[in-house]
Amino acid sequence: MWEQPKGKAFSQSEVFADGATGRTPPAGTVARGSLEPTPGYSSGLGPQGLLTQVPIPVDLARGKAVYESFCAVCHGLRGEGDGVVVQRGFPQPPSLLQERLKQSPPGYFFLAATNGFGRMMSYASRIPEADRWAAAAYIKDCLQEQGAQCPGGTRATNR
Ligand code: HEC
Repeated sequence: MWEQPKGKAFSQSEVFADGATGRTPPAGTVARGSLEPTPGYSSGLGPQGLLTQVPIPVDLARGKAVYESFCAVCHGLRGEGDGVVVQRGFPQPPSLLQERLKQSPPGYFFLAATNGFGRMMSYASRIPEADRWAAAAYIKDCLQEQGAQCPGGTRATNR
């Protein structure tokens, strides 16, 4: 693989008439994984800062599944910061049900999942964007709104 004829980025090419190895993608090429259906979809940020609305239609049942698979181990099924990993010694996250976070828009939760937050790692490479939005919607519309009545928040244990 190392010893083979190939064009290196920015090197000169004898193959193409313009002498450049790097080629311009054909018109209309769409980058894989980079679709931005609505502004702020992948950043969580709009011109006014954090998005105050989830930018795509989401399925709360999907959000619940994502939350319970990726977040609840630390944040707890009800969002109280008492997940099973915390019970085994991981630093305790703050309760997602506290007033400050109830006032925080969906973009805040998307951003935390995307970039990580302090000692919490980024989930960008683990959870696709649409699922990060679904989890954010589940936290906002379900856990924070309905508390213990929230489907999935009624289970007695975190195990
Ligand atoms: C491995 C444990 C762990 C997992 C899994 C985890 N978090 Fe966290 N999270 C934390 C900790 C710990 C903090 C507080 C970090 C700090 O302050 O240093 C935190 C902080 C946050 C905050 C910021 C809270 C604030 O005070 O403003 C949000 C929002 C958040 N997490 C959302 C999520 C979401 C959404 C998921 C799932 C996609 C998730 N977390 C998964 C441990 C975790």
